[in-house]
Amino acid sequence: MKSRLPGALLNLLDQATRQSGLATTLKTSIIQLILDGVIAHHERLPSTRSLANDLKISRDTVEAAYQQLDAAGFLIRRTGSGTFAVSPEKPEAWTRGFNAKPATVGLSRSILPPLSVRGTDIEVAGGVVDQTDIHPFVAAMPDIDSFPLRVWQRLGARIIRSADRSLLMYGDAQGYLPLRDEIWRYLSTYRGVRCDTSQIIVLTSSQQALTLVANLLLNPGDLIGVENPGYHGAKLAFLAAGAFLKPLRIDNEGMVVSEIENGDVPVQAVYVTPSHQYPTGATMSPARRSALLEWSATTGGWIVEDDYDSEYHYEGQPIASLQGVDGSDRVIYLGTFNKVLFPSLRLAYLVVPKPLVKPVVAARTLLDGQSALMSQVILSEFMKGGHFSAHIRHMRMLYKSRRDLFVVNLANHLGEYVTFNPPTGGMSIACFLREPFTEELTVSAATEAKIELPTLRRLYLGGRGPEGWLLGFAALRPEIAERAMALLARTMEDSHKS
Ligand SMILES: Cc1ncc(COP(=O)(O)O)c(C=O)c1O
Repeated sequence: MKSRLPGALLNLLDQATRQSGLATTLKTSIIQLILDGVIAHHERLPSTRSLANDLKISRDTVEAAYQQLDAAGFLIRRTGSGTFAVSPEKPEAWTRGFNAKPATVGLSRSILPPLSVRGTDIEVAGGVVDQTDIHPFVAAMPDIDSFPLRVWQRLGARIIRSADRSLLMYGDAQGYLPLRDEIWRYLSTYRGVRCDTSQIIVLTSSQQALTLVANLLLNPGDLIGVENPGYHGAKLAFLAAGAFLKPLRIDNEGMVVSEIENGDVPVQAVYVTPSHQYPTGATMSPARRSALLEWSATTGGWIVEDDYDSEYHYEGQPIASLQGVDGSDRVIYLGTFNKVLFPSLRLAYLVVPKPLVKPVVAARTLLDGQSALMSQVILSEFMKGGHFSAHIRHMRMLYKSRRDLFVVNLANHLGEYVTFNPPTGGMSIACFLREPFTEELTVSAATEAKIELPTLRRLYLGGRGPEGWLLGFAALRPEIAERAMALLARTMEDSHKS
């Protein structure tokens, strides 16, 4: 079928200047047609050669316009299969630079910045910002005051005292072997992961793991299914690799797996937090787990399982990992020590199917070479001495009691403003604002009271979701949390009156 684009464009271009800035005019005209719906989402655009022929302009001009459209997120170019329009109204496009004001973000980028297309995507998305101190109600933060620092110091001092030159040299890029052995022991005992030590790769963070996975497994333009709402760090890693995101709804059984295949474009991979979904806290039901594994076995799609805080389950037995029941070798499992021990540790791990070990290790050598050897040695001794499992047991009890008090205080002080379900695990609680309260109003009242209210809506693709808060409870002493809630309630009442 011949494209309708050249005819429609000739009309628009005739009205516009055909002299300087023709590429920009062409770009703006194409954006106009996309926004007006004349060019449909995912519609194939003509090649630069054929459009240049039809419009009787140079191919370089069309190429420059396409590059600008690509940088602005209005199209995606797939080598070998063509160029496709992206409508900012479509869910997959929402985070390709279309977060807040769809049309203006793209249009304001009429001058190509001195960055690559990927660099532009990263700049627009803004990266991941980690909190550098603990205060009410920073989300997903561990209680670092309860970390057995003395034990760590003692082990560290002993290791440094007896260090030989090997501790000062480069180590294994895949990770210090005794630490990988300890991780294997822990994962197979407590998380039901089935692997051997050769499949474990020690990294600095879950974020690094996600970036590696995104770049090694996804081509620009590929579609990855992500939980909606879901972890922003994962979405940013996939977007930075040029992937498109397909939002998958969450209900009380976790990800709605049947939505993976409800579109024309095949999904290459799915990112999931099955043990408790971030941020809702839902645990994936056995039926959904089977359906997800079935999807991956039949399509060959990858499952990226982020088991980020599975240590903290407060009701009954924690659910085992998906990796352990996958019979098709399609699950990539990731976990982190930065939440369970302390954030500055910068140690995490990936468990991958055997054929992926070499490429993942090669890719990590290009990022940061390897994780710091000294910390890996201390951690392996910490685990070997039983301190790791003792710490988890202690923190599980502490966080459970904090959660219990937190939900009681939340209902007492702020029940008028929000609804919530007590989470069965994790370190944060998702709260949904009652009508007519909004994130904007409550955050501004909180700011006045010097309280941070991490918001919920931003965790939905394109910011299109219910208004609410994601409150961290694990790192806060109950009296501090309660004082902050009372203060917040007072400030909101005052601002409501005025
Ligand atoms: C779901 C999820 N995965 C991963 C992480 C980040 O872990 P890391 O600090 O190891 O990158 C977080 C942090 O909040 C998270 O919520």
